[in-house]
Amino acid sequence: MSTWSNLGLQDSASPLMEQLTFFHDHALLILVMITVMVGYLMIMLFYNSYTNRFLLHGQTIEVIWTILPAIILLFIAFPSLRLLYLLDEINEPSITLKSIGHQWYWSYEYSDFLNVEFDSYMIPTNELPVDGFRLLDVDNRVVLPINSQIRILVTAADVIHSWTVPALGVKVDGTPGRLNQTNFLMNRPGLFYGQCSEICGANHSFMPIVIESVPSNYFIKWISNNLNS
Ligand code: CUA
Repeated sequence: MSTWSNLGLQDSASPLMEQLTFFHDHALLILVMITVMVGYLMIMLFYNSYTNRFLLHGQTIEVIWTILPAIILLFIAFPSLRLLYLLDEINEPSITLKSIGHQWYWSYEYSDFLNVEFDSYMIPTNELPVDGFRLLDVDNRVVLPINSQIRILVTAADVIHSWTVPALGVKVDGTPGRLNQTNFLMNRPGLFYGQCSEICGANHSFMPIVIESVPSNYFIKWISNNLNS
């Protein structure tokens, strides 16, 4: 999760988020190179007192400074498209999780398991345990197995919400009357925190998401306990 002074991306917990981090760093590097180059030119222009009164056109330089930025942009465009299609690809998910956005909480359904379903509310500050995370912890966590392809189906019951978990590289809008799909694979155990990221009303900031990544035998235990109750 994100903590104080963490200005960059969170540590990735899935291969897709890893790719997103690589792409972010790649794009940032190009951005820094352009900024330094343009900044240098502007400063040099400011201190340069020589001018050429007869310089009205320069075919060669204009061809160069038109084509070169276009080529540089291709170095961002192609990796970006690669990632876009990579994120959209669903390969044989072993579990499907439905998450439905409400004002203002998430409800979840595990329809592979006799439809286990529950609501997930934020824990209010006055009920928070000392080791809890304010505005981030929930009463019922989403428990999911590690190293498994998981399909998420997102929708909403009232207004548009967005199911967003940064460490997993997932951000999908839940829209009433529509069913959106995404997928991820968690490659390490832990708790992954997320928040709704579509302005959905007064308590928009109070509908967090907590994913509990556990080994698959723990997950089977958890789901069978919930089947019995
Ligand atoms: Cu739901 Cu913002």
